[in-house]
Amino acid sequence: MVRAASRLLRLSITCIDPLARGHYHPNKVLELEQVHGRITSCTDCGLCNTRTQAVPGEGPADAEVMFVGEGPGFHEDQQARPFVGPAGKLLDQLLELGGLKRSDVYITNVVKCRPPNNRDPLPNEVEACKKYLEEQMSLIDPKLVVTLGRYSLSWFFPRDSISKVHGHLRKQNGTHFLHMYHPAAALHAGNLRKTIEDDFRKIPQALARIREAAQPVAVAEAEAATEQMRLF
Ligand code: URA
Repeated sequence: MVRAASRLLRLSITCIDPLARGHYHPNKVLELEQVHGRITSCTDCGLCNTRTQAVPGEGPADAEVMFVGEGPGFHEDQQARPFVGPAGKLLDQLLELGGLKRSDVYITNVVKCRPPNNRDPLPNEVEACKKYLEEQMSLIDPKLVVTLGRYSLSWFFPRDSISKVHGHLRKQNGTHFLHMYHPAAALHAGNLRKTIEDDFRKIPQALARIREAAQPVAVAEAEAATEQMRLF
């Protein structure tokens, strides 16, 4: 409700409480558009020679939740949008299970250009693209980052294995992370479908915990007092 209201106010308000999330900062939108522009014309690795179009990412600049996949596939390369092929269709269903609307979340990838024949991205390609994901993370400053697949997991946590940490919520440098198998893996290995669905169902509770932990103490105490009054 508060976030919806803040969105409606975006066009007219330029100066509100800078500590409030959802706070509309025109520079932030502009800077994100500039990052997208630099990605679109990037020639920093060999993928620029084989791509049709780069796929910077999409979603609100003040998104609370950011999804990070591996890299664009055929359909994404054609449309310059992330997760619009078969894995994207599954992601749309999983977002619903997680109580999220696609238009409310920011979606991007570790590499922004399609590796030929959907091969895995090479270390030098991941390295060349690193600055863009870093800039997106820093501008959007999401409350929760959902990693999709092992390349995304290892971008943030190089030593971890997806089979051990999927479905786990944890915090690093002030940002919360929830790790998921890649939707494409669930399309190819039927036994992962239930696992990935169960993991996405954890998102509402994870967000509730994160929001609760972020509440100013005075508000949390006032709410606790109200709750006590209701109980007694
Ligand atoms: N797989 C990904 O990792 N990203 C996309 O955008 C599409 C498929």
